Amino acid sequence: MNTHARTPMTKKRNQSFVQRYMTKRFMRALISTPEGRAHILTQIADAEDNGEARVFDDALASVEDPQIKKLIARHREDEIRHGQLFRNAAKKTGITPAAIPDELKALWQLNQEIDGFFDRPITDQRGVVTAYVVLLALEERAMEQFAMHREVFAEVDPEVAAIFEEVERDEERHLKYCHAITKMYADSEEERRAAIDDMRVKEARAFQRTQHANMAYIAEHRLMPSAWSRLGWSIIGALGRFTTPLPMTRYALAPVAA
Ligand SMILES: [Fe+2]
Ligand SMILES: [Fe+2]
Repeated sequence: MNTHARTPMTKKRNQSFVQRYMTKRFMRALISTPEGRAHILTQIADAEDNGEARVFDDALASVEDPQIKKLIARHREDEIRHGQLFRNAAKKTGITPAAIPDELKALWQLNQEIDGFFDRPITDQRGVVTAYVVLLALEERAMEQFAMHREVFAEVDPEVAAIFEEVERDEERHLKYCHAITKMYADSEEERRAAIDDMRVKEARAFQRTQHANMAYIAEHRLMPSAWSRLGWSIIGALGRFTTPLPMTRYALAPVAA
């Protein structure tokens, strides 16, 4: 019966709206201080240009198609450029941010979900498919997160908001690369779709852990603007650990595109 299939989807969508609302409120409070802005921008810069670089090198060595090689190389260059844009924006705050701990890195958390896949070199096309399914899930998350960052930064620093807007356009293109590359090398479309669905759940779990670790770090380093906001967000963070559903992106809730 169709009603059965529709119910969980609607529920997820509603919960997702609440999560996005709370995330934006949290971001607004955090970026109201230079320390908070420096932290969030460094965390994003790190996600853009650390961690993924070797994946692209391995993928380049494992494929032969010249067009696909071009996509991978361009993707790598874009992510390095994004990292630089966000690092420059972090510098503008005048704060020297601390290094980002591993548990605050989404890729590090996701690597735990996939049995340390990224600890081993990618040596064949099957590995390229897995790597690009991971990147696809991360790009989807970036699209969703960056739209919220753009919105909240527009109220504080329109130049940074413009960076998010530019980067979002690239991430949208990267999503197309991820679909093209996985389509090219997956054994079948059925297998590719199943791998994407599975990775979206793993990514959501990893993202949730990253968020919890980030909230704990922000509280510990007193990055929130006042004692009241620190207390308030600690309580919300603690409650969220028990009540928040898995934060799927809109891509997981919508019919699979591309
Ligand atoms: Fe990026
Ligand atoms: Fe990207």
